Amino acid sequence: MNENEIKKQIAHFAMQFVQDGMTIGLGTGTTSAEFIKCLAEHTFSITCVATSIASEKLALSLGLQCVPLEAVQHIDITFDGADQVDTKKRLIKGAGGALLREKILAAASDQLIVLVDKRKCVNLLGKIKLPVEILPFGNHFTIAHLQKLGYTGALRKRADGSLYVTDNHNFIYDIDLQDERTHPEEDEKKITSVTGVVDTGFFFNLASKIIIGDEQKITVVE
Ligand code: 5RP
Repeated sequence: MNENEIKKQIAHFAMQFVQDGMTIGLGTGTTSAEFIKCLAEHTFSITCVATSIASEKLALSLGLQCVPLEAVQHIDITFDGADQVDTKKRLIKGAGGALLREKILAAASDQLIVLVDKRKCVNLLGKIKLPVEILPFGNHFTIAHLQKLGYTGALRKRADGSLYVTDNHNFIYDIDLQDERTHPEEDEKKITSVTGVVDTGFFFNLASKIIIGDEQKITVVE
């Protein structure tokens, strides 16, 4: 089974948690895209809210009913992917650039169900890039401040070399987390204390369930 087939299997498995009448948050990324496609193949009577313009476009193109977050009072479950998951259900997200809206929806949802390939599961977060959304205004000062605190990295760029801009018109500074982080909460505190930082890709105390897929099976971590 290749990576894409695993994503499809996870998406199919996740359907058992969807019920008629629910308001569902749609994540961003390739796993979430499989989830959205799968959802559209079913005949659930649901309302969707997306974490990105790309996911909303995909959902609408497949006939799902999408409304802006401002139009709902409550989200039952958000289904989203992640870049890394540790044994305490802490996550790193944002490789797809949608971390801020993803975190807002996750926090607004009764449940966040995370859909990941087993290869993304680790004992401790780290050794990957930590996306941090920052304001364009004075971004060089924000970056200098982060670097002074030891958080080296780079502004995210598109394939054509231009700066990556989020759906919220901000930049992403990808911090190079060179080692495993024993206390990522402390990193989060330090990084978010810097003026100009909007939010980080660390997700703590947000995931309700992790659906983990590999070539053999699908497991749920509660
Ligand atoms: C986007 C995200 C994605 O959920 C994360 O990057 C995982 O993506 P994929 O399912 O493509 O591996 O956080 O901002």
